[in-house]
Amino acid sequence: MKIVRTIEDMQQQVQELKAQNLSIGFVPTMGFLHEGHMSLMEEAKKHNDIVVISIFVNPLQFGPNEDFDSYPRDFERDEKIAEQLGVDVVFYPSVDQMYPKPLSIKMTVTDRTNVLCGRSRPGHFDGVATVLTKLFHIIQPSRAYFGLKDAQQVAVVDGLINDFNFPIELVPVPTVREEDGLAKSSRNVRLTPEERKEAPNIYKTLQVAKEWIADGERDTNKLTDRLFASLETTISGSIDYLEILSYPELGNIDSVDGKIIIAIAVKYSNVRLIDNIIIDVA
Ligand code: PAF
Repeated sequence: MKIVRTIEDMQQQVQELKAQNLSIGFVPTMGFLHEGHMSLMEEAKKHNDIVVISIFVNPLQFGPNEDFDSYPRDFERDEKIAEQLGVDVVFYPSVDQMYPKPLSIKMTVTDRTNVLCGRSRPGHFDGVATVLTKLFHIIQPSRAYFGLKDAQQVAVVDGLINDFNFPIELVPVPTVREEDGLAKSSRNVRLTPEERKEAPNIYKTLQVAKEWIADGERDTNKLTDRLFASLETTISGSIDYLEILSYPELGNIDSVDGKIIIAIAVKYSNVRLIDNIIIDVA
């Protein structure tokens, strides 16, 4: 496995791979790899000749009060995990390497951001779109892998790829779950034992939503109200949002029709959990 630290070296590697007609599966990460990332790498491994991952904690996507400095970093551990999973190249640039001087062009994501988590993180997806534009140009992947746990990010990347004609196939990968249904996250350890016990009710509520829709309920307001009331009785955390939107457009809808997302965020004492399901309703 190669560790590449500069853009120039990465571009050189990419040129050599392209000259051999090899397909590149790309998994962008901010490191501190967990099972969610592992499922992305495994998926990339199955369908590409070469797997490239990037490890870069992108300052542009952190707000002024967010945890850029304290964001967990452990490159040695990440390196071992990547090696074990058969990753071919780890692109591990420094902040200076990616942003040697202030950018002269700013990207602003105008759609799909003013809902769900994006509503409380202004500018976050601008930073994600900017770094991915750079990474896509440098790595030139055939396919790029993103976890559906952050379905809003997948929707934004879908917009980026389509709007700017990147010749890249976006591969959304299903959320990895604990046995009781709780979406896996490195943040779950911040739940108290009581909170951990009840947290699977978030996923259960999403399953209930699916059942109610299958039983014929189509009114999104009615569904949202009923689901909110039902979730509220089973958790001690506070519901940050429970939204039903079109997917991937993330538009408001009165009636469930076509591809939709049902997304929930719950604030617990030390952590905020998110989960969602995407379903296609005929
Ligand atoms: O999902 C993440 O870890 C980041 O938002 C990404 C896609 C690596 C961009 O910095």
